[in-house]
Amino acid sequence: MQAKLRIRRFNPETDKKPWWGEYTLNDVLRTDTVLDLLHRVKWEQDGTLTLRRSCAHGVCGSDAMRINGANALACKTLVKELGGKGETIKIQVEPILGLPVEKDLIVDMEPFFDHYRSVMPFLISDQPVPADGRERLQSPADRERFDDTTKCILCAACTTSCPSFWADGRYVGPAAIVQAHRFIFDSRDEGFNDRLEVMADTFGVWRCRTIFNCTNACPREIKVTEAIAEVKMAITAGKV
Ligand code: SF4
Ligand code: F3S
Ligand code: FES
Repeated sequence: MQAKLRIRRFNPETDKKPWWGEYTLNDVLRTDTVLDLLHRVKWEQDGTLTLRRSCAHGVCGSDAMRINGANALACKTLVKELGGKGETIKIQVEPILGLPVEKDLIVDMEPFFDHYRSVMPFLISDQPVPADGRERLQSPADRERFDDTTKCILCAACTTSCPSFWADGRYVGPAAIVQAHRFIFDSRDEGFNDRLEVMADTFGVWRCRTIFNCTNACPREIKVTEAIAEVKMAITAGKV
């Protein structure tokens, strides 16, 4: 089949504003990924097309982009999932929203990682390291409590699909809250009060208006909105 790609392009060194590049690819398979098609554009038609990717298997989180209007990983999005049963399919690809575009499909992830770092995404505990040098043990039930939020690959698909984040980039965003959740509900962690300052801040969890775009965008199928609700409840209760 044939694919007609419309890709949002921008080179800060030569362009005053973004523009749409249009590319036609033949012999496209329904099982090709959008990343496969972007590679073909770059390797066969225009080597200046700039995008970020690494693993090509939904693990590294580096190729979140807006595909036909919805955030997704290019390497996990198959042509057949984008509809179109005919011989030609139209696919529009843009950078994720809410972060500064550096070039074409690459955005500056630093504001996103600043929010990530702000929730202290590491174990906080005054308990001594076990004398035998082993890891700090916990029951399977305690481990299960935060299992869902350990799956995050920091792709930013959630945060950059959130209208509250678009409205004000100071909102810590769903990805950072997912990371906070992972430690708040870890029975070994004692950092709730440290994280409370960030979570209960004006730009913390209360900026979430339960819009659910984040949950729909998450390629790891994390129940993002549910995790946010649990953090809100933990704050209201004053403890975990
Ligand atoms: Fe990506 Fe999901 Fe993590 Fe958000 S919660 S950064 S969408 S993996
Ligand atoms: Fe945004 Fe998700 Fe809340 S889209 S408003 S963080 S439910
Ligand atoms: Fe690694 Fe897509 S390239 S997640």
